[in-house]
Amino acid sequence: MFKRFRKLRANKTIRDLVCETKLSKDDFVYPLFVKEGKFDKIEVSSMPDVYQMDIDTIVKECKEIVDIGIKAILLFGIPANKDDIGSECMSENSLISRTIKAIKQKHPELYIITDLCFCEYTSHGHCGVLDKNTGQVDNDKTLQNSITQALVHIRAGANMIAPSGMMDGIVATLRDGLDKNGYSHIPIMSYSTKFASAFYGPFRDVAQSSPSKGDRKTYQMDIANRLEAVQESLEDEAQGADILMIKPALSFLDIIRDIKNNTNLPIAAYNVSGEYAMLKIAGANGLVDYDKVMFETLLSMKRAGASIIITYHAKEICKVLNI
Ligand code: PBG
Repeated sequence: MFKRFRKLRANKTIRDLVCETKLSKDDFVYPLFVKEGKFDKIEVSSMPDVYQMDIDTIVKECKEIVDIGIKAILLFGIPANKDDIGSECMSENSLISRTIKAIKQKHPELYIITDLCFCEYTSHGHCGVLDKNTGQVDNDKTLQNSITQALVHIRAGANMIAPSGMMDGIVATLRDGLDKNGYSHIPIMSYSTKFASAFYGPFRDVAQSSPSKGDRKTYQMDIANRLEAVQESLEDEAQGADILMIKPALSFLDIIRDIKNNTNLPIAAYNVSGEYAMLKIAGANGLVDYDKVMFETLLSMKRAGASIIITYHAKEICKVLNI
């Protein structure tokens, strides 16, 4: 006696009926990069089809996004001037603030999530204020500046904030800061388990955010640690996070599942720049069927437990799902 699994694979109808995981256009968040200036858009060679855009171009891009059926974006800023604390992102008239207002004027329904970090804004490229003695990121000073940055985003009209700096206590600090300022309705999607990964390389070219010295290992997690990964996310849940995020996604599918099994919060996976670039290059060289491999990659993240997928493939996958 043996079971004949092929009974339920006989044709597409029965395969669709028993299909356990389905991708939908509702699942995706599309990252966008706004850069100070007037130049239309600039392609960065390490991320094909991803652009640094000026404000006018990003507003036009948002029309295309809405037309395709994408409902949410994740916004990153590349300022003209950087300094040692990242003042630009804390000023009321910051690049991100002006961009949110311009997008919301034309597309009020587009859901804007802002990445809340300092690495794009600091001259040293680290994700916060440096301690003068140790040269390390000063956790608690960075927390205070994060509240200021969050309020700038929210006053401009951001729907959700996503702290990505891996500072201890960031979710509790932001939750408290938002609540005290009348923003208890704004959710926090925490980059709760973020690894010190080499897969961020292409992003740092696009966002111009590489650390000038050292690495991010004193704040981002060791890629080897599974138990700590679960603790990090559960700690952010306890501090009041509304959505937990695992980043990167593809080489951390086991971690996505571990965290999914330990929480009832929605899980987001960040399909990061290096993962995207690898598929792009393989597809462009005819080594794989790009659309199918993209679909399989994104499906694996959903199957692992993510209900939200942040991905540079968002436009392309929505087009594939439309067929
Ligand atoms: C900011 C930030 C990074 C990414 C998202 N937010 C870079 C980093 O931590 O160095 C990476 C995204 C990607 O690689 O697509 N801290």
